[in-house]
Amino acid sequence: MSKQNTYVTLDIGTTSVRVMIGEMTNGSLNVIGMGEAPSIGIKKGAIVDIDDTVQSIRQAVEKAERMINSKINNVVVGVTGNHLELQPCHGVVAVSSDDSEINDEDINRVIDAAQVISIPQEREIVNIIPQQFIVDGRDEISDPRGMLGVRLEMEGMIVTGAKTMLRNLLRCVEKAGLDIAEIALQPLAAGTAALSKDEKNLGVALVDLGGGSTTVSVFEGGTLRGTSQIQVGGDHIANDISVGFRTSKEEAEKIKLEYGYAFIPEASEQETFSVAKIGSDQPENRNQLELANIIEPRTEEIFEMVAKEIQRLGFNDLPGGFVFTGGTAKMPGILELANDMFNQNIRVAVPDYIGVREPYYMNSLGLIKFTHQHMRIQGEDVFAELTPADEPRNHRQPPKKREKQKPREETYKSRETTAPQANREKGQMKKKVSNMFKTFFE
Ligand SMILES: Nc1ncnc2c1ncn2[C@@H]1O[C@H](COP(=O)(O)OP(=O)(O)OP(=O)(O)O)[C@@H](O)[C@H]1O
Ligand SMILES: [Mg+2]
Repeated sequence: MSKQNTYVTLDIGTTSVRVMIGEMTNGSLNVIGMGEAPSIGIKKGAIVDIDDTVQSIRQAVEKAERMINSKINNVVVGVTGNHLELQPCHGVVAVSSDDSEINDEDINRVIDAAQVISIPQEREIVNIIPQQFIVDGRDEISDPRGMLGVRLEMEGMIVTGAKTMLRNLLRCVEKAGLDIAEIALQPLAAGTAALSKDEKNLGVALVDLGGGSTTVSVFEGGTLRGTSQIQVGGDHIANDISVGFRTSKEEAEKIKLEYGYAFIPEASEQETFSVAKIGSDQPENRNQLELANIIEPRTEEIFEMVAKEIQRLGFNDLPGGFVFTGGTAKMPGILELANDMFNQNIRVAVPDYIGVREPYYMNSLGLIKFTHQHMRIQGEDVFAELTPADEPRNHRQPPKKREKQKPREETYKSRETTAPQANREKGQMKKKVSNMFKTFFE
């Protein structure tokens, strides 16, 4: 059964797979379910083992299902990774109606027109991010619907991803028995929840400090301008502790979570703990200052890489500063270190909702808010399909409203068949993508 204004999202990270179920009522979000499982098939932000990834997804889904006492049939999948690229796009159409009033159909057509660019065989379009509309030469229009005009243009960014990476990801979701309600660029979605309008307008870097990776996304002029993933994250900090204290990775992770401090000048020598050493049954006494001497240099290195990526993306000055999300943003002393390194506004974004007040829930939360914001255009297919716990799972219900919105899973399968079929499906997928990302009327 499709549950109106309810969304199930899937964030497949290196450390954890997270499922979140959120219900939007009168503009406010209620998180009604959560499921989380350790991620065992992902390294450095990429899938290295499909079966392990499927297992992690299933575990997270089952936990969430128990919370809501229903079976989950479909999910909104967040995509991220270094294979994603943004490039400028531009579409032009003549306004179709006799009275020259711009309507939804014109917007659809101009976004479709902007997608007609050549992309390499091995890549495909994930999202379109419109940045402005131009009506008869007047630019900076964010929503032209209802305006009068003859010529409608759209300028924006097109997000493409490596086909193989996207397919691997979506195949894991399918193999876990889930339909794909929608896919969304994770940083774009996270920005919806983590950033203020002012920050996005002025220029801000959203930095997701994850486990195996750190994702830097720059927003400016109200929209996402670039995103990049660095293959270093909190897991590397734990690794360094394991080497520095000659202890197991598990023990190092525990120590990091309990005593970790990222800023040497404020770490306490009095805060002591014992460490089980590899190859010895004599635990060793250590203190937080020694620990900070390991954590700070690695964190500093991550921040330096973040600054470099921002520059590489073409930004020197971001008046909105930095906003941190992700599990590593929880590390005490991280703000102090960042403040010491950068002369910028820096804050950690934490969801303000019961049960999910942690920076690592920001991506899931963003996916819900983002999908809801754009639901009007995406159609009702994005709503959660839930089945009571004691009934068999139901799958691939035909779309109710819009025929063209085939489940993406089918699109992927049939594209591997014959060429004409693949082309037809490609058209459908393009349509779906374009429906998805008429997203900007915020
Ligand atoms: N309280 C804490 N202090 C320090 N680090 C923490 C804390 N809580 C979680 N972490 C770290 O956060 C990391 C996991 O973050 P997160 O859950 O955002 O990653 P992920 O989404 O699974 O991975 P990625 O985004 O890299 O694919 C781990 O390295 C974990 O040790
Ligand atoms: Mg993550």
